[in-house]
This record gives sequence, C-alpha cells and structure tokens, in this order.
Amino acid sequence: MNNFEYISGSLFCEDVDLLAVANEYGTPAYVYSKDAIIKNAKSYVDSFTNSTSLACFAVKSLSNLFILKIINDSGCGFDIVSGGELQRVLSVGADPQKIIFSGVGKSKEEIKEAIENKILSFNVESVSELYKIENIAKELDAIASISIRINPDIDSGGHDYITTGRKGDKFGISSTEDILSLCKHASSSSNLKLVGLACHIGSQIMSLDGYEKSANKIFELADKLLELGISLEFLDMGGGLGVSYEDENPPSPKELIALLENKFLERNERLILEPGRSISANTGVLLTKVEFIKENFLIVDAAMNDLLRPALYKAVHTISNLKDDQKNLKRWNVVGPVCESSDFLGKNVELEAVEGDILAIRNVGAYGFVMASNYNSRLRPCEILIDGDKTKIVRKRESMDDLLALERFTDD
Ligand code: LLP
Repeated sequence: MNNFEYISGSLFCEDVDLLAVANEYGTPAYVYSKDAIIKNAKSYVDSFTNSTSLACFAVKSLSNLFILKIINDSGCGFDIVSGGELQRVLSVGADPQKIIFSGVGKSKEEIKEAIENKILSFNVESVSELYKIENIAKELDAIASISIRINPDIDSGGHDYITTGRKGDKFGISSTEDILSLCKHASSSSNLKLVGLACHIGSQIMSLDGYEKSANKIFELADKLLELGISLEFLDMGGGLGVSYEDENPPSPKELIALLENKFLERNERLILEPGRSISANTGVLLTKVEFIKENFLIVDAAMNDLLRPALYKAVHTISNLKDDQKNLKRWNVVGPVCESSDFLGKNVELEAVEGDILAIRNVGAYGFVMASNYNSRLRPCEILIDGDKTKIVRKRESMDDLLALERFTDD
C-alpha cells in the first residue's frame, strides 16, 4: 500500500513525477497522495463489522483542511485536542456527533466552544477538569457529554516521549476510586451526561497486547459501573497503531479492529478508536534540494524546523533520491541549515547524490508539517496534494510578509 514508486528511474506520487512538482513549487515541500489518504481512512472504516463502531482521526497528526475534508468524506470522525482543531474540523463539515475532545489542559474558551457545538464527548483527563466542564455547562444552561479517560498503567513500548498510558504519565486518571466517584457524580449531574470511558496508551505501537490489556481494564471498570446502575454508550480505545518506517511489521487496522470487535461482542457499548499516524504517515513525503556537499554531509534546504521527528525522537525516515541512481552509493549525514547539531534529517543514509539533486524524505505525513516551526526565522514549506495526474497546492509556502505580519503594528 504505497503510492510513492519509481517509474522508469524517477520517483512518482500516483501519476505525477515528483521532480516536476519540485520544479514547479520549489523545495522544501510536503507532497501527499489523496489515494493513500482515502485507502488508509477506509482501512479503518471498512474493517468495522459493527455499524456503530467509529474511527475518530487524530487531527494532531495531519491537520491540513483539504486532507481533513477527504478523511471526513471517507467516513471518519475526529479526535481533537484544541479549539484550533475544533475550528478546522467544523470548517470541513465534520458532524459534531463524531468529534471527541482529548487533552489534559482544555481552556474555558475551548470547553465553551465545544459544548456550544454539541460534540460527541470530552475525554476528561482529571478530577478538576470534570468540575470545570460542569460549571461551564451550567453557565451555558447546557448539558456536556463526557467520558473519563483512564490511565490503565500499561506500557505500550516505544519511545519514552510518546508513551502515555503508564502511571506517572500526565494523561488520564489512574485512581479507580476517583474514576468511580467522578462517574457517579456525572451521572447524577443535571449539566453532565456520562457517555463513555476512554484510554490511549501511546503511539507507534507494534503489538496488539497493550490494546488487549487496556480493553480488559476498561471492561472491568465499565462492569463496576453497570453494578452501580450506570451504563455507557461507548468505550474509546484510543489510537497509537504503529507504521513501518524502515522494515517494521506493525499489526494492520483490520487486525486491531478484529481483535477489539471480537472482545466487544458480548458488550452493549460501541467501539471508538482515535487513529492518527496509521492513517496519515505513509501518505506524505518531504521534498528537499541538496544545496551543498561537504565531506560526508549532504546539506539540504529542509531542516529540523520543517521536520522535527529526527531531531526530537531520533526518528529514522527513509530518504531517497528522486532519480533512482544506485551506481555511486555513499553514506551521508543529511543535515539542514539550522544552527544546531541536532539539525539532521537522516544519519548514515546510503544514497547517490550530487549538488542540486532533489531528495524525498519518506513517510512524513504524520507529525511532519504539523510540527513545523519558524525556528531560525525560516518560512514553513508548502503542502501539495496529488490526485491521479492532478497536482494541487493545499497550503501556500509562507512568505516574508507572513513571517513578519504579527509583529508589525500600525503605530510603529
Ligand atoms: N489520541 C490521543 C489522545 C493522542 O494523544 C494521540 C497522539 C492519538 C490519539 C493518535 O495517536 P497515533 O495513532 O497517531 O499514534 N509527535 C509524535 C507522536 C505524538 C503522539 C501524540 N498523541 C511523533 O512524531 O511520533
């Protein structure tokens, strides 16, 4: 399932030669395949055998409006973590009843907006948050739908920075006592409606074991609630399914869903998932030009501000030359212009390259552009969407005016 392939020695995205894209739009540039986005979204939607199950795409992984629209049209809902993400999904026509709001630090304004838009549920991450939502709902004379995000104390494996379900991680509520008393409080409140329990144990997860364990944990709690006469509409098992960056072999969405739907067979709650990376990662590449060659360094025009994952997590992304030349392979450190030694995009990468060549950094659809910044006052790259033989710019390259706009005041 890869829409980036060499055809007669040149790397294509669908039916478009990426060299033509680089020539027309410049570099660095993020390029996405529409077909890959649809296929990945459908790999969740079409794997559900229960029509009530729902995949809420984690907007934080890739939030371009054009892409959110495609994902919306493919039948997914959305997992959001900010007022900005709420505006994004509403602006592409998302059904509020398919929106879940996660995150440990929701502001008053964000909570208000989400209540007014009647979203499916807030994933409440602390005792104080529940009371804050209740008070805001009261002020609005409204009823807020909530679920409690539990911290199941399960280590999903993988990079420390993206593991979220261990006791001591800042996410969710660990104490069973707190969870049960919040649920009792919520179900007797006139401004709250308790609709579910949620958990999300981490990202880039390579085995289904953690999902199995967290399902058991969440079922145990849901059963305790049933004994108290409290029934829930859904159980949200989070996102986190891993992808292959090099030659890893993660479980597929279909396998994850088969496992969970099977476990849910005896239950009345619906299954909700919050996939991000497994929908967005392999849909995009970052095109970058080799500016200079020095010793074993390929100095390119993209940097850690454009793609932070290698610098932040030592993440490895395959890097390919758009020309499929394999004659003079050498090992390179691919680095950007930012003034930090952590500014690398790949280390010890085997490539043939000369100055002026264009490289594609692969599998950067997830947590790529969304984590880009203006560090070193660099302009964030453009985003381009390929659909068959059609190329469309879906976010302009930033300009010097964009860079300076918020610091210009009329009285200066
Ligand atoms: N739900 C919640 C509550 C989350 O916090 C996340 C990701 C997801 C769903 C989606 O997880 P996914 O399916 O994408 O693994 N920047 C890091 C990843 C951070 C993930 C944060 N939470 C990276 O580049 O690897």
